[in-house]
Amino acid sequence: MTRKVTKAIFPVAGLGTRFLPATKSIPKEIMTLVDRPLIQYAIDEAREAGITEFIFVTSRGKGALEDYFDHAHELESSLKKSGKTELLDILRGTNMDSGAIAYVRQHKALGLGHAVWCARRLLGDEPVAVILTDDVIMGEPPCLQQMVEAYKETGGTMVATMEVPIEKTKAYGVLDIAEDMGAIVRAKGMVEKPKENPPSNLAVIGRYILAPTVMDNLNKLKQGAGGEIQLTDAIADEIDEGRGVYGLRFRGQRFDCGSKAGFLQATVAFGLARDELKDEFAEYLHDIMSMRKAAE
Ligand code: G1P
Repeated sequence: MTRKVTKAIFPVAGLGTRFLPATKSIPKEIMTLVDRPLIQYAIDEAREAGITEFIFVTSRGKGALEDYFDHAHELESSLKKSGKTELLDILRGTNMDSGAIAYVRQHKALGLGHAVWCARRLLGDEPVAVILTDDVIMGEPPCLQQMVEAYKETGGTMVATMEVPIEKTKAYGVLDIAEDMGAIVRAKGMVEKPKENPPSNLAVIGRYILAPTVMDNLNKLKQGAGGEIQLTDAIADEIDEGRGVYGLRFRGQRFDCGSKAGFLQATVAFGLARDELKDEFAEYLHDIMSMRKAAE
């Protein structure tokens, strides 16, 4: 029997320099796809997977992110008075129960492994999910829920994974596969951003379910690739110690919202997925593509 996954860590301390000047005054996690901030997509996915405790690893300048989860009483009562129940529901969907959220500060940008390690005192002897908000995944059921289901079978540690072109593997954690069972693979190794000879083209995408022992590994870790403390290394240590590490080829489409091109693609995809927007938006996209073709 695996233990239930009820806590999730959201590492949100990054500076978001790739989106300057926007991120000069707003955290990148507040940037919106259509009308919802990236962080809301991550929270909704976590909730649907059964997460009830949300741990944010933040840094200086992330005040707007913390405020985002406060109840907006004035706004709520004004919407209530004017009978705007639909908007009221949307707004209430962003509220978090008191005590459901914890904020931990990462004082130095020492990498993803370090960010996760900063949350260690809030965890007991239980598995914990990690969601990277840059990786937005459109999937039904949502990616983390698919992972929780698969994890019930495998236990151990699980990462979301997908095939990428081999030349792109240097931007990812990459799995070395011991056994390929179709949707689930068992790993015999994991390398962070391999400069050459990637062990496969199965890249790690930003969803994890970590066994509690990963935290012990992080305690011992030194700086790895890029001078950072890598979560990948702490997971690879699990394999060295004989514990199971699995990858789930999730069903769904992943957008790299840490890059401008990925963010724009996500905007198009999520725009087209909205009933109230899709017709007008699709027509517009069709028109500009035709105009581009005609101009060529
Ligand atoms: C992080 C992880 C990497 C993973 C990637 C997924 O890298 O370190 O293993 O493949 O997220 O998006 P980052 O993109 O933050 O450099």
